[in-house]
Amino acid sequence: MEPRTIKIFDTTLRDGEQSPGASLTIPQKVEIAHQLEALGVDIIEAGFPVSSAGDFQAVKEIAAVVKKATVAGLARSLEKDVTAAGQAVADAAHPRIHVFCATSEIHLKYKLKRAHQEIIKLSVDAVRLAKSMVDDVEFSPEDASRTQPEFLREVVQAIIEAGATTVNIPDTVGYATPEHFYEIIADLVANVPNISQAVISVHCHNDLGLAVANSLAAVRAGAGQVECTINGLGERAGNCSLEELVMALKVRRDHYNVRTNIDTSQIYRTSRMVSSLTGMQVQRNKAVVGANAFAHEAGIHQHGVLAEASTYEIMRPEDVGVPKTALVLGKHSGRHAFQQRIAELGYTLSDEQLTSAVAALKALADKKKEIFREDIEAVVEDLLESVAVGWKLESLQISSGSKMIPTATICLRDPAGELFQDAGTGDGPIDAVYSTIARITAVTAKLAEYSIRAITGGKEAQGEVYIKLRYNDGSYRGRAFSTDIIEASALAYLQAINRIIAANGRETTAPPGV
Ligand code: KIV
Ligand code: ZN
Repeated sequence: MEPRTIKIFDTTLRDGEQSPGASLTIPQKVEIAHQLEALGVDIIEAGFPVSSAGDFQAVKEIAAVVKKATVAGLARSLEKDVTAAGQAVADAAHPRIHVFCATSEIHLKYKLKRAHQEIIKLSVDAVRLAKSMVDDVEFSPEDASRTQPEFLREVVQAIIEAGATTVNIPDTVGYATPEHFYEIIADLVANVPNISQAVISVHCHNDLGLAVANSLAAVRAGAGQVECTINGLGERAGNCSLEELVMALKVRRDHYNVRTNIDTSQIYRTSRMVSSLTGMQVQRNKAVVGANAFAHEAGIHQHGVLAEASTYEIMRPEDVGVPKTALVLGKHSGRHAFQQRIAELGYTLSDEQLTSAVAALKALADKKKEIFREDIEAVVEDLLESVAVGWKLESLQISSGSKMIPTATICLRDPAGELFQDAGTGDGPIDAVYSTIARITAVTAKLAEYSIRAITGGKEAQGEVYIKLRYNDGSYRGRAFSTDIIEASALAYLQAINRIIAANGRETTAPPGV
């Protein structure tokens, strides 16, 4: 039997962006949307237009540039939401409005305070309104997995009659298990008389770590669309991870007999892009895209893989676009070699960015014998993320030891080019650096998160420092790489400070006396 095609609905820009700390600017969302299109997703949920002017604009701009994929905007079952979503996707080559309304007893009682028949009316009216604006309408009974089965069937039948062409079954709170979720979908397939007039979609959250397993079970039961996010981003514990779901369907086609339109060789690149733009790091042991996903540590495994890769590898790194060569360049490599590797990793840089990236890589090659893929990614992402205007680190000196008070002497250049120097102490060298930078820049923020990791192996490895600062009600991230972890810490801190200044329009000159 010919394999069925499962549509991949990507909600990285909507549900994914709801991950705490993962907010994106409009140009970043447009950049991701282009990459999602290159990846081959069928539908891009670009945002929730009524929720803010920024979201509306992002959906509108994405709708204007995306040509192949369908662009969806989310709406509650309210006239103003549906109208905003319809207006935001109006310019799309393939527009979709995604309407939702909660249907579980618990949501009806405590959130919506409505009776069953009122919910049906609200949903049907919203679908009809959406249908008057676009042909392609999706409806989601929110918290479907905790909805009474009879009521779920009734809602689904009614919204298909009203014109919905996709009916999405969300496991909103990640409560379902694979067998349970299979039964929910199978029940709708068997008992909703007009179900064949719509595509069944599923949208699973990962609170119990089962989002991918539940989505796979739903595919077996007849679902034709799966909603997912890159790197599994999303509310709380996240959504079904696109890369895991797609690779499971591909590797186990023998079992599912389905295919997708995803170009899996674009997976790694998309994952890196989303991680660097959202600042949400991918855990090292994350399936498919984590740094260790293809690293064989045990000698017996290494031996097997060298003899025949399929002994311990169910997919090849290149299947998901992980470049083959681990060791790439060194001190004596020329500009052309660096440029070529940057291009191979999928980055498109302006001439100016390319010149800066090559200069930074050559400087790194002077400090570090071997330049690995991760080093190139770190340098390029650092460059892409850096805040163009702001304070720059000129020099940094630390005195620290077991019997002395850690002291940092720091020299910064302000955005106007003037130099400022100060020295300060702290509980440790990084604390001394941070309090001195805070004094020079006159920005006092709370350090909410600090993490450090080596991005490659070996004693010369670059350290990646990731921080989050809280300032007023906002959270500002900074990420930097260096072979010197104190320098990486200072650079990450300055990046976050520059973001605070850019967002809050603060005075950027240092206080008198510094
Ligand atoms: O999790 C959920 O229920 C949602 C809906 C809006 C589809 O995100
Ligand atoms: Zn969701």
